Amino acid sequence: MKITNVFTGDSKGQADLLIAASFEHPKQPSFNLSLIDGEASEISKQAFSSGRFLGSEGSVFSSFNTGLKLAKEFVLIGLGKNEKWGRENLRKSISSVVCIAKSRRAKTVRILAESFLAAPIQLDLLSEILPEILKLSRYQFDKYLTPKKEDEKTELSSIEILYSKKAKKPALDKALHRAHVISDAVCFTRTLINEPANQMPPREMARHAKEIAQKGNLHCEVLGVSEMKKLKMGGIIGVSQGSKEAPHLIILEYGSQYKNHGTLCLIGKGVCFDTGGISIKPSANMEKMKYDMSGAAVVLGTLKAVSELKPALHIVGIAPCVENMPDGGAQRPGDIVKMHNGKSVEVINTDAEGRLILADALAYSERFKPTAIIDLATLTGACTVALSDKAIGLLGTDQNLIESVQKAGEKVGERCWQLPLWDEYFDQIKGHHSDILNVGTGGGGGTITAAMFLKQFVPIKRWAHLDIASTAWTDSNKPYRSRGATGIGVRLLLELIRNWK
Ligand code: BES
Ligand code: MN
Ligand code: ZN
Repeated sequence: MKITNVFTGDSKGQADLLIAASFEHPKQPSFNLSLIDGEASEISKQAFSSGRFLGSEGSVFSSFNTGLKLAKEFVLIGLGKNEKWGRENLRKSISSVVCIAKSRRAKTVRILAESFLAAPIQLDLLSEILPEILKLSRYQFDKYLTPKKEDEKTELSSIEILYSKKAKKPALDKALHRAHVISDAVCFTRTLINEPANQMPPREMARHAKEIAQKGNLHCEVLGVSEMKKLKMGGIIGVSQGSKEAPHLIILEYGSQYKNHGTLCLIGKGVCFDTGGISIKPSANMEKMKYDMSGAAVVLGTLKAVSELKPALHIVGIAPCVENMPDGGAQRPGDIVKMHNGKSVEVINTDAEGRLILADALAYSERFKPTAIIDLATLTGACTVALSDKAIGLLGTDQNLIESVQKAGEKVGERCWQLPLWDEYFDQIKGHHSDILNVGTGGGGGTITAAMFLKQFVPIKRWAHLDIASTAWTDSNKPYRSRGATGIGVRLLLELIRNWK
């Protein structure tokens, strides 16, 4: 699908669809009628004067075969009251544009960009959000569906985003480029996650990382079992030892020349399939445990975008990738393992595996001398209990970092909610025959005790942990997030990096 910025008046030929948006207005459309041709502007006025369309939220007015120059069909969509306008409203309405285009089987679409403008959305923001959300809304994981012949004919192939001559083309095209990079990274991440575990084992994750590195000129290193044994990474070794698939510890590095601006380590849980191990999970919903590598996929996607956006910051992505399986060689409940930082852990429950592999990765990050560490993981089912699918669970040891993560999340529509990480929670994971237990005893606070476990392995104070267990996947289609992997985290991290200080 090709997306282009075009000045109104410069577009050639007749598209299938022209879409304009209007806020609620009693008398006339809220957009500048001179931006569309006389016929379309007449139709818009009549839609209002007849009371058939007044711009109320979610309303749609369509006019077909009316002899417009710009398109065969002209659709007005209602945005509701403009006092309530904001980024997320904008994203939802752009997503509805894609739904309309799909329902019309339109191949070529034109969108009157400025009709979506209202405080606090300025043109610079709109010109980024529009193409980004168009692409995210169109994403579907359909590669395993047998293609239907007509699909190709009705494929949405071109979208022209129409701007008035007042807009500045270089700025618009820069925004469009950023939107392409970001939405490509999110879609890439979604696909890594949506791929079933038979297609995306740890070695495939490593292959993708190497490909990103090669294309984007990043430094990539992948550690195998023997290296991890030498490094005494008992967590990763223990979790992976029940699987035929070997563990891979992926390291992707960008911008070592920017070390003086700081080093950000991004660490993602990569459990390519989580059966629970010997503490095996019930079969209901187990198929979804292919998404237990979402954190790692987010790290890969983010570094892919970073290699194109080129921020002035040293960024190191670390993704421990394993499969948690129960075979004759599998780790047992009660096993005690020695971790990379020297601490010992009793594995009470082999299903609490994410924290074991992250612990080694967090401890390993020390060698990069990070000034900040952020990890992402589908870590606990308890996160769904606490927050449902409405927010990422956010915990950490540096309030400034936590607040900037929260701010970035708010901006991009990937909201986070902070949970406490008081020292008292350590009581629940304090060991007897080992330093630490891998699950909390005494019940409750599962998301917190998991984070408290991680904290024991974090080498610096400036650390934030994002539990994306409840948000990395959606069971139903949502605006700009089709059923399956959401890719949540990528846009948040890129926004955070953009404003990094
Ligand atoms: N991958 C799961 C967490 C999870 C559950 C993610 C549901 C997404 C949806 C994790 O490895 C796990 O199994 N956690 C256990 C921890 C428990 C054994 C302390 C859990 O949440 O039940
Ligand atoms: Mn598990
Ligand atoms: Zn898991």
